[in-house]
Amino acid sequence: MDKKNENLSRRNFVRNSSMATGGIILAPSILSASPFFKKEKVLKLAVIGCGGRGTGAVSQALKADENVKLVAMADAFQDRLDGSFENLSKMFDKNRLKVKPSKKFVGFGSYKKAIDEADVVILTTPPGFRPQHFEYAIAQGKHVFMEKPVATDVVGIKKVLETARLADEKKLNVVVGLQRHYQRSYREIYNRIEQGDIGNIVSGQVYWNSGGVWVRPRKEGMTEMEYQMRNWYYFNWLCGDHILEQHIHNIDVANWFIGEYPIKAQGMGGREIRNGKDHGQIFDHHFVEFEYASGAVISSQCRHQKGCLNRVSETFQGTLGTSNTGGGKTRLTSYSGDKIYVHDGENDKNPYQVEHDELFASIRSGGHINNAENGAKSTMTAILGRMATYTGKQVTWEEAMNSNLKLVPDEDSLTYDSIPPVVLDASGNYPIPIPGQSKLV
Ligand SMILES: NC(=O)c1ccc[n+]([C@@H]2O[C@H](COP(=O)([O-])OP(=O)(O)OC[C@H]3O[C@@H](n4cnc5c(N)ncnc54)[C@H](O)[C@@H]3O)[C@@H](O)[C@H]2O)c1
Repeated sequence: MDKKNENLSRRNFVRNSSMATGGIILAPSILSASPFFKKEKVLKLAVIGCGGRGTGAVSQALKADENVKLVAMADAFQDRLDGSFENLSKMFDKNRLKVKPSKKFVGFGSYKKAIDEADVVILTTPPGFRPQHFEYAIAQGKHVFMEKPVATDVVGIKKVLETARLADEKKLNVVVGLQRHYQRSYREIYNRIEQGDIGNIVSGQVYWNSGGVWVRPRKEGMTEMEYQMRNWYYFNWLCGDHILEQHIHNIDVANWFIGEYPIKAQGMGGREIRNGKDHGQIFDHHFVEFEYASGAVISSQCRHQKGCLNRVSETFQGTLGTSNTGGGKTRLTSYSGDKIYVHDGENDKNPYQVEHDELFASIRSGGHINNAENGAKSTMTAILGRMATYTGKQVTWEEAMNSNLKLVPDEDSLTYDSIPPVVLDASGNYPIPIPGQSKLV
């Protein structure tokens, strides 16, 4: 097969695996068979994980379709659930927020009770719990919006991939919060790359360099489990490190635009500045080279250090030209300097809203969106990068998948007195990966 055809067939594969745009695949013959075909039919919504994103996603779901009503909420903590409900009450009237006190569920295991109440569920807890919540939601026949990343370990990735197949069989809609797939600027660039405007991508640079995120300090009386659950960003079993939690967005764009997932990675990283008592075990910087079967190499940087150059964007070099996305510069340029395309974002819609607009339109029309396989494989790409920086070794996709790394305990076995998967050592520190010494983590 020549290079052009090879590229084309790779892209077709990717398109068929629902990775391309997350767009709606309509099946007209089953339109009227959708139980939600009639707009008057109420769609019952539940949210699992009532933090910042959960609250935002509920608001977007309620705006997407006038007959969506929130009927159940679940959170690990009462104060988070109450805060979310209060915020939503300022935005929507009572007719949309039909959550009886008995349908506000709190604690480990609360997800099942809330999912049971709904037609559509929003899964927005820390990502460690996502595979278990997704598995239950699909088993119960619910449509899903779930945030990225979709897991923190390999066992979780495999569960999501298996559940994604079941969602296909059951024709359930699943949107994953990798919102660049729902952002007009990225879709425009993707379509032009796919039609060959910059040729084959041979290299690229993807960045999430910022000052970092919140820290939730330990409070007197907290058990170790409560502390880790509140300060979840800094514990790998819950968060997966910031290479997953934020940088997945940019890594996912590389996979999407190149049209495949990497076969190996090597890199370096550490915790140089953000290394205090409340910073758990994650690194504050990672640099990874991802290599693809086509020969393309992507350099990936993510940094959480204040006072440094901030950059959240993606750049790719093709055989005919370059692509820039993010950071306010969305364009394709030829090597002679001509602009092939410059995106005018003036009338672009908020991609967080578009995710829900398309999800609910698809549910109503009997369509089928399923982003879960790509969500799992892009999460796995970030895990591969983490394995490379934590070990300091070259790690292949196959080795990583075969590792069967498991970080997250069964949620149904947890209480606030349980001992978490990582604990402080005798010197008062959490175990921190050491390149050259650590095993695949
Ligand atoms: N796509 C995006 O741009 C974007 C933006 C922000 C957050 N997110 C993602 O959304 C998810 C949540 O992030 P956030 O910023 O809302 O965090 P958050 O801390 O504000 O909210 C998480 C909530 O989940 C609750 N929770 C934890 N474990 C639970 C469990 N087992 N059952 C029920 N509730 C549980 C917590 O108590 C908390 O209220 C993360 O995966 C994050 O990566 C995505």
